[in-house]
Amino acid sequence: MERKIVYSAIQASGIPSLGNYLGALKNWSKMQDNYDCIFSVADLHSLTVRREPALLKKISRNMFLLLLAMGLDPQKNIIYFQSHVHEHCTLAWILNCCTYMGELNRMTQFKDKSQKHSDNINAGLFTYPVLMAADILLYDADFVPIGADQKQHIEICRDIAQRFNKIYGDTFKLPEPIINKNGARIMNLQQPDKKMSKSETSGTIFLFDEPNEIMNKVKRAVTDSDNKIIYSQDKPGISNLLNIYCSAKNISIEQAQNFFADKNYGQFKTIVAQAIIELIDPIQKKYKELAQNKDYIDKLIKIGMEKASNIAYKKLDKVKRKVGLVKHL
Ligand code: TYM
Repeated sequence: MERKIVYSAIQASGIPSLGNYLGALKNWSKMQDNYDCIFSVADLHSLTVRREPALLKKISRNMFLLLLAMGLDPQKNIIYFQSHVHEHCTLAWILNCCTYMGELNRMTQFKDKSQKHSDNINAGLFTYPVLMAADILLYDADFVPIGADQKQHIEICRDIAQRFNKIYGDTFKLPEPIINKNGARIMNLQQPDKKMSKSETSGTIFLFDEPNEIMNKVKRAVTDSDNKIIYSQDKPGISNLLNIYCSAKNISIEQAQNFFADKNYGQFKTIVAQAIIELIDPIQKKYKELAQNKDYIDKLIKIGMEKASNIAYKKLDKVKRKVGLVKHL
């Protein structure tokens, strides 16, 4: 039987957070044995927010290394940089012409980001979901493992694909999002009503944090004063820590609540922090090892580009024919 295709990507916009890992990245490694997986560092998406070019370059390369460090096997998966495969941008343009301004205006991430970066509300920020749709549709992905915040972008991707198929005939597969039960939305430790984000320093645990930093951040996490370790909408801080713990340990909320029933907040926080440290430690060790081997990484970057380009080229060729662009010899 033909294997299903999985596609996902992470923006090169900082050091990945615990939210990225528990919400998406952890799932990626689990899927690599049963699916044909394609993962990218979405460096073109990162250009929607202005940053120092040298920093972007560093963040992007570190992100690639980190994907390997968390256990993605470059033999089994295609791992590459979005900007190395030019077909993404051409397809994004074609899809832009099948996407309505009204649809893009409804994207909550666009609204959030234009508030946050009000001095730079560029067209890239607005058409961001179309480039993301191009990423996914180029590779005929069946499944897209993501955190809850990206769900709306998969919905618009499906709408665009469906519209294209209706106008030009069957071309694109409609992808399904895969969203974890636990970990789908890890919140900021200082403001548990806000998503934990790699572009925010306060209240975020980064995958490169040292154990003592993690311990301190968790100990300082905002909670409440009623000393009950239960999952409840009225207790966003405690619920977030429970969610992190369950996701790190692969257990249910009920199991975690039972385990913590006789513990106080201090003990609870220490145990949660230890679980995070244990989870991150092997990734950090592997990362340091890989960082020593520049030639090997360069080789993998090239291999990833070649494998991805090979698929993307064929798909884009089909799309170009469908819309009526002239083929050259
Ligand atoms: P990005 O880089 O913001 O995040 C990468 C992945 O991490 C998930 N995530 C979270 N999950 C749980 N809790 C959180 N606090 C949290 N923060 C982030 C995100 O949902 C995402 O799955 N647009 C995408 C990158 C992208 C992409 C794609 C994804 C570009 N092209 C094609 C899938 C398919 C983004 O900015 O993710």
